[in-house]
Amino acid sequence: MGASTLLTGCGDANTLRAEFPLLAAAPELHYLDSAATSQIHRSALDAVLHHETTSRANVARGTYRLAEAADLAFENARRTTARFLNATSADEIVFTSGATASLNLVAHAFGNTLQAGDRVLISVAEHHSNFVPWQMLRDRIGIELALIPVRADGQLDLARLPELMGSRCRLLALTHCSNVTGARTDVAAVVAAARQAGARVLLDGAQAVQHGPQDVRALGVDFYAFSGHKCFGPGGIGVLWGRHELLAAMPPFLGGGGMIGGVTPALSTWAPPPQRFEAGTPPIAQAIGLAAALEWMLGLPWPQIHAREDSLCRQLIEGLRAISDLRLLGPDAAVSRAPIISFEMPGLHPHDICQVLDTHGLALRGGHHCAQPLLAALGVESCSRASIALYNDAADIEALLSALDAARRELT
Ligand code: ALA
Repeated sequence: MGASTLLTGCGDANTLRAEFPLLAAAPELHYLDSAATSQIHRSALDAVLHHETTSRANVARGTYRLAEAADLAFENARRTTARFLNATSADEIVFTSGATASLNLVAHAFGNTLQAGDRVLISVAEHHSNFVPWQMLRDRIGIELALIPVRADGQLDLARLPELMGSRCRLLALTHCSNVTGARTDVAAVVAAARQAGARVLLDGAQAVQHGPQDVRALGVDFYAFSGHKCFGPGGIGVLWGRHELLAAMPPFLGGGGMIGGVTPALSTWAPPPQRFEAGTPPIAQAIGLAAALEWMLGLPWPQIHAREDSLCRQLIEGLRAISDLRLLGPDAAVSRAPIISFEMPGLHPHDICQVLDTHGLALRGGHHCAQPLLAALGVESCSRASIALYNDAADIEALLSALDAARRELT
């Protein structure tokens, strides 16, 4: 058992916070923007430094001992990521540069197996990274792109599924959890409908992974995408998990070194997955750092952490409800949701609100959150967002609630 597992065995926020170098060095900072980027855990930094100073070499190319050490560390990172997702095998893990690249990979490679007139179903609640690639595919090959609407509370209106899927739905590509409202998708209902229609399911797990390990087999989905920088790992690394038989049936996305079976002047053949989808030198140190963060997460007491995150979420929602004129977006605290809370204060621009909050030591994101269709459906152009992670505590919520009062006084 590693030192950090021992330290975090109790899972309280202060102990966890001390394991994040940036937060430990800034005790006055109330960091409530983990939906944009979580802070990096010490184990991930240590793993990157260790790799870069002891085994830095390219992977899948060299036969000298340093290169073999790099290969081993990189492939171990793949195995750890497979355990984090409960994947059947490490060959189902493709390393990318981030969730956006993973989603573009599926839109391009799986997209190339579709025909004009086939349907892909996404939702109004998608982040632009799970919206724009499908519009590009529609414009490139003529698929039909249909949208699941959201209800007033931001939850997907899954009652519309059978009608929206029609007879040629090949894929449902949906957020696991909204980056604006925190609403979680009812994955079981989506998977049941998809199976009946012979369609595949892709989940954008970008906002789900920082709240604990996932089980892609229990979820019953076909593809799962996420980013390392949102689950306490380095930036520049992402993951696409796909069922092996689906990955094996997909053509490559990017061409280059490392993804080929062979190349002649006339044509090329492809390596099997996952290498088929990892053209060029992969983000090696980043994958190793990510694996250290995931290993650390695998040892955490998640029921306790979830109870605290839920309680902070309720505390914030109750406090925000008491502020006159403030409009909360998204579901009630009682329903299944992640601790991501967005709100609007009519007459005050979120950029101004967030700048004033910054002067009170609070880091929050304000704007359209790369989810313009969702904001339009909810009737707002922009909003402020607080996102809670395992290192937050009640003092962060109290600081936000009192600074919002100050912001209103300063801005009106
Ligand atoms: N997708 C990230 C967010 O919601 C950047 O802030």
